[in-house]
Amino acid sequence: MNPLLDRLRKVRDGGLPLATLTAYDYPTGRLLDEAGIDLILVGDSLGMVVLGYEDTTHVSLAEMRHHTRAVRRGVKRAILLGDLPYKTYETPEQALASARQLMDDGADAVKLEGGRAIQEQIRALIADGIPVVGHLGMLPQHIQEEGRYKKKGKTDEEAARLLDEAQLLEKLGVRAIVLESMFKRVARTITEAVSIPTIGIGAGSGCDGQILVTHDLIGMFPWFCPPFAKPKTHVAESISNAVRAYIDEVRAVDSAS
Ligand code: KIV
Repeated sequence: MNPLLDRLRKVRDGGLPLATLTAYDYPTGRLLDEAGIDLILVGDSLGMVVLGYEDTTHVSLAEMRHHTRAVRRGVKRAILLGDLPYKTYETPEQALASARQLMDDGADAVKLEGGRAIQEQIRALIADGIPVVGHLGMLPQHIQEEGRYKKKGKTDEEAARLLDEAQLLEKLGVRAIVLESMFKRVARTITEAVSIPTIGIGAGSGCDGQILVTHDLIGMFPWFCPPFAKPKTHVAESISNAVRAYIDEVRAVDSAS
């Protein structure tokens, strides 16, 4: 088993809160790694913030593999998590074939979205020795069925189902669970109930760690930023300013000659 995964510890077991981010290319992976991030996810958010798709359901396994390999070249220390894209884990056999490819590309573990509905897939991966990270709450790969991105856990029934799924994932042997866009009391209840770390995104501060899409942290996707992400810098603005300055410089030289 990859010893890096032992760093995924709950805060109550003495771990520091896990600071985790996404990366899709070599320089970003390397910068995050050198800055000391705990875990880097090559997320299928790739589709939206890098490839310009409308949602994550258009991302292929070939695209995920290409970007996982690029990030791997830059990451020496952090845990590298590969995301299984939409429709690449419909059966246990397909999940295994897809996950093995991401592991061959250098992922230390794989993440897939869902709970009870994909338990056989998760079982197959873990039986094969592939470390798995779960993902519950708002599941972006379900956008076409659900029609919109909706915060989860509003009703007692939904909260109870999320807790039940988290406990099932724990029982199956996943190493951590991403809790995306859910009411913070629900994320806190799950975090207290399970023995594996939870990593929240839009799920409040009661989780064992946090994850963000790096583009949202650095202001690199100015056309949309989720309300829970507070950009710490504005890279898109810097790029636009640099490009405008360059255009002016080139045109000034051209008109002077
Ligand atoms: O693809 C992704 O970036 C993710 C995070 C939002 C958790 O799954």
